[in-house]
Amino acid sequence: MAKKKGSMSSKKSGAPVEAAAVEQKAETAKKNTAKAVKEETGAAALKETKAAAKELPKAKAEEAVKEAPAAAVKTEEAVKEVPAAVKTEEAVKEAPAAVKTEEAAKEAPAVAKTEEAVKEAPVAAAEPVETVKKASPAKKTAKPAAEDAPAVKRRSTAKKTSQPEKPAKAAAEDAQTAEPASAAAPEETWVSPRRSVAFIGSECYPFVKTGGLGDVMYALPKELVKQNCDVRVILPRYKCIPWEYHEKMIYRGDFQMDLCADGRSFYVGIMEYVWDGVVYDFIDNEEFFSVGNPYTNLIEDIPRYCYFAKAALAALNYMDWIPDIIHCHDWQAALVPVYLRTQFARTKLTTAKTILTIHNLRFQGIYNIPTISYWSGLPGYVFNMGALKTGYQDANMLKGGLTYANIITTVSQTYAGEIQSPYYGETLDAHLRYHSGKLRGIVNGIDYDIWNPAVDARLYENYDITNVLDKKKENKRKLQEELGLEQDGHKFVIGLISRLTNQKGLDLVNAILPQVMDEHTQFVVLGTGDRVYEDSFRYYENAYKGNVCSNIMYDETRAHRIYAGADALLVPSQFEPCGLTQLIAMHYGTVPIVRETGGLKDTVEPYNMYSNWGNGFTFDRYDAGLLLDAINRAKTFYFENRWCWDEMVQRDMDKDVSWESSAKKYKDLYLELA
Ligand code: ADP
Ligand code: GLC
Repeated sequence: MAKKKGSMSSKKSGAPVEAAAVEQKAETAKKNTAKAVKEETGAAALKETKAAAKELPKAKAEEAVKEAPAAAVKTEEAVKEVPAAVKTEEAVKEAPAAVKTEEAAKEAPAVAKTEEAVKEAPVAAAEPVETVKKASPAKKTAKPAAEDAPAVKRRSTAKKTSQPEKPAKAAAEDAQTAEPASAAAPEETWVSPRRSVAFIGSECYPFVKTGGLGDVMYALPKELVKQNCDVRVILPRYKCIPWEYHEKMIYRGDFQMDLCADGRSFYVGIMEYVWDGVVYDFIDNEEFFSVGNPYTNLIEDIPRYCYFAKAALAALNYMDWIPDIIHCHDWQAALVPVYLRTQFARTKLTTAKTILTIHNLRFQGIYNIPTISYWSGLPGYVFNMGALKTGYQDANMLKGGLTYANIITTVSQTYAGEIQSPYYGETLDAHLRYHSGKLRGIVNGIDYDIWNPAVDARLYENYDITNVLDKKKENKRKLQEELGLEQDGHKFVIGLISRLTNQKGLDLVNAILPQVMDEHTQFVVLGTGDRVYEDSFRYYENAYKGNVCSNIMYDETRAHRIYAGADALLVPSQFEPCGLTQLIAMHYGTVPIVRETGGLKDTVEPYNMYSNWGNGFTFDRYDAGLLLDAINRAKTFYFENRWCWDEMVQRDMDKDVSWESSAKKYKDLYLELA
């Protein structure tokens, strides 16, 4: 790798004139504040800033007002002036804590002891941080975003007209847990306290997405903003991000950062984009992020995500934005908690608490110790069995993150339990059992702005719960037409939208597809992935011309149309941490057929013919015969009991699969931690 390269057109801002003007106003407001505070005319300056801020859009205004007090406490050693890594290294050298940490880390549990050691150490940043806390009434007085948040639309009227009644038992259970009638209750005024959160992860819709992680990195921050959080999402600035977004990014700064064990340093640029109240900061470095879509192979991905994890923290330091919580996602961001408790232990960031969310335990970032040790530049003591070391000579980045994070979450409660067993634990089950005291499961939701059949511009026909039964037929017919399938509204159309990997239960599908295909059935698959599955689905398309369509591609529009046009969606996964496709399917009135594992188990209630209740069809063991049985049950129900099937379609559309309640659980966790 070349020693140093510049950013990708980093200083060029292609933002529209209007946005640039707004940005400039915000900058002026901030500068005025900082200057005035320095001259000890703080109050007046703050007033001026607030006045200036009034002219700005809400998000910018809040940002400007919030940053004002922070400016007042900037010390001479402002992090901006010194590359973070240099400062950190110095600090680590000086700090007795580092020595203690080293000793402590040798014995498990590493994280608890490290934290204790850090607490004991004289923390240079403690004073300014405390001052920031005292001097930030703006945070409290600022109008909470939650007040502005549009309430999640409920289809209560539709429910009244078309929703079937719940069976007596379920209704009685509901009644027991229900709140007393709200008519007399006073209007709710309590607003959850504000918290600041930095999200760090490797993908985020619409910039870059390969699967559900991208959806979560987009939707959860957006919902957290509504629940009174300040959120910054830190992402790599991949070259594969569509140009329309590169164009909108604004240069925020750059610096050099020490990374490798031999002191090799790298350029870190920060490009910013603010959207829907969320600030996106892209870490810019052409050497690391110009190849891949976004991933390539471990040989390249290991250095890339060592760099990314450290650069993300260094960027927060550089911007002097000290969040209450640093929320990291999957192995690509797993070194963040490790860096925070080692090389960044003596920076202001050390006050932040870390959460590491496991979206998929199968991917862990494992390579030999010398390589990860070289690229991360981390101290030797983190490569012990209690932290990064695994097997005889390998290092596991996810394992290290799990050790050092304050809290571990995963994306459903069932998966949180499953991963502590050898079958699902991907060799980390013992490590997870050891850390089970800080492991939680919070199920994902979906973004109702993107996934809303009533307004989804990608659909042939929009619909809601009141007209789904008619409009779905239209969507089905047009989907059949577009895909070159026989146009027959009576056929039972099964969809499958997935990465084509063995996680997704495709071996089962391959084994039984010939038995599923009859003159009443059509099958539509959309996905890319392992060659073996791509080829077998191509084979089936050829073998069942006009009734099987294999779309071996990644196509958002086609995905939306399949969700709307299919009658059922298949998710027979071998393991599924949460799964979003079954949630989207339900919201589009498409009945899920799933294996009872992970989030599939937590989100799809199996149909019970005695109570006529449930959301879909399920099977438990990973067995092709059981999958076939579940599909046949669904088919029989569809053809012989259409009235009840239609009720299930409406029930699924009415089910709350939004982010609202899960985001609240994350918010509660943030409040508990900080
Ligand atoms: P995973 O993250 O394991 O891939 P999820 O169910 O959590 O599975 O998320 C998958 C996401 O990716 C969904 O939003 C789904 O619609 C989308 N998706 C998967 N494959 C494709 C594809 N080929 N084209 C378009 N979207 C896809
Ligand atoms: C992972 C999992 C999937 C989950 C997604 C988002 O890719 O495979 O089950 O829904 O992450 O959390």
